[in-house]
Amino acid sequence: MKQFISTEDVPGVPRLVDIALDYKKNPHKDKGLGENKTLGMIFLNPSLRTRLSTQVAARNLGMEVVVFNIDKEGWQLEMNDGVVMNGNTSEHVREAAAVMGQYFDIMAIRTFPGLKDKQEDYSEKYINQFIKYAGVPVVSLESATLHPLQSLTDVITIKERWTAPRKPKVVMTWAPHVKALPQAVPNSFAQWMNAWGEVDFTITHPEGYELDPKFSGSAKIEYNQEKALEGADFVYVKNWSSYQDYGKIINSDPAWMVTNERLKNTNDAKIMHCLPVRRNVVIADEVLDGPNSIVIPEAGNRVWAAQAVLSEILKNGK
Ligand code: CP
Repeated sequence: MKQFISTEDVPGVPRLVDIALDYKKNPHKDKGLGENKTLGMIFLNPSLRTRLSTQVAARNLGMEVVVFNIDKEGWQLEMNDGVVMNGNTSEHVREAAAVMGQYFDIMAIRTFPGLKDKQEDYSEKYINQFIKYAGVPVVSLESATLHPLQSLTDVITIKERWTAPRKPKVVMTWAPHVKALPQAVPNSFAQWMNAWGEVDFTITHPEGYELDPKFSGSAKIEYNQEKALEGADFVYVKNWSSYQDYGKIINSDPAWMVTNERLKNTNDAKIMHCLPVRRNVVIADEVLDGPNSIVIPEAGNRVWAAQAVLSEILKNGK
C-alpha cells in the first residue's frame, strides 16, 4: 500500500482486516518492522482516539512518532496555488509538506471540511496538497470527506463478533446533533461496507440527509428509522449535516435519538458509534451504558486498524 486515504488504496479489505486481527492477538510480533522509521502525525483539528491509537500502533511496530498540532504550533498554512501571500497565511503547503517529508518516513494528517464549499471539500484539497508535496506515503487520520481508519476499525469490530453463516444486517442511522458535522464518517462507513461486501447494509435518515451516492453506493435507503432497524444485527449511529443543502442542519428531530424503545425490534443489535458522542442527544444513556453497546471495544480496535495500515505501508510503501 502506497497511501491510505480510502478503500481505493486497499488491495483487499478482508486481508487487511485479517492482518489487524492478527495484531490484536500479538501486538508486538513486528516490533522490528518500523525500526529507524519515523511517523509524523500532523493535526489541523482535534482528536483523542485517532491521535492516541495511531501512536500506540506505530510504537508497537517499533516506529518513532512525532505529533505536530500544526493548527496551533505551526505557521498558518496557505493551501491555494498561485496566490499573493500578503494576507494571514505565512507558509505555503508546498514548502511545509515538502519539509516535513524530509523528516518523516510516513506522514499522517487530520483535516476537517469547512462545510461551506461542497466542491472544495469534496475535492479533498487539503489532504491532496499534502500528498502532492510530501514525497512520502500519506495516511488519512480523517479528511474532509472520509475517515478510513475509523471505518477499517468498524469492519474489524463487526467481523470479530459475527459468526453466523448469513450476512449480518448492518444499519447506519442518522441521529440528531446540536452542531453541523461533516459527512466523513458516514461516507466512509458506507464506502467500507460496500467494499467489504459481507453485510446486508441499510442507511436510514430523514429526507434531505442523503449522502453522496459515490459513497452510499448500493446501500438500501430507508427514511423510516423504525422500519430500517427491524432485524438489525448491528446499528451504527452517527449524525451528519446535509450533503445536498451543503453543511446545513435541515432537521434535528429528537425522535431520531437512539433509545432502547427505538431498538426493540432489532435482532438484539450491537450498538456502534465512532465517538465522541453527545449523550442523550445522539444516543440515550440507557443504550450507551447498556449491555449491547460496543463503543468502547470499537474504539480499542482503532489500534489494530492503524497497525495493519502502517505495517502494509512499511512493507510496500516505497
Ligand atoms: N473517532 C475518532 O476519530 O475520534 P477522535 O476524533 O477523537 O480521533
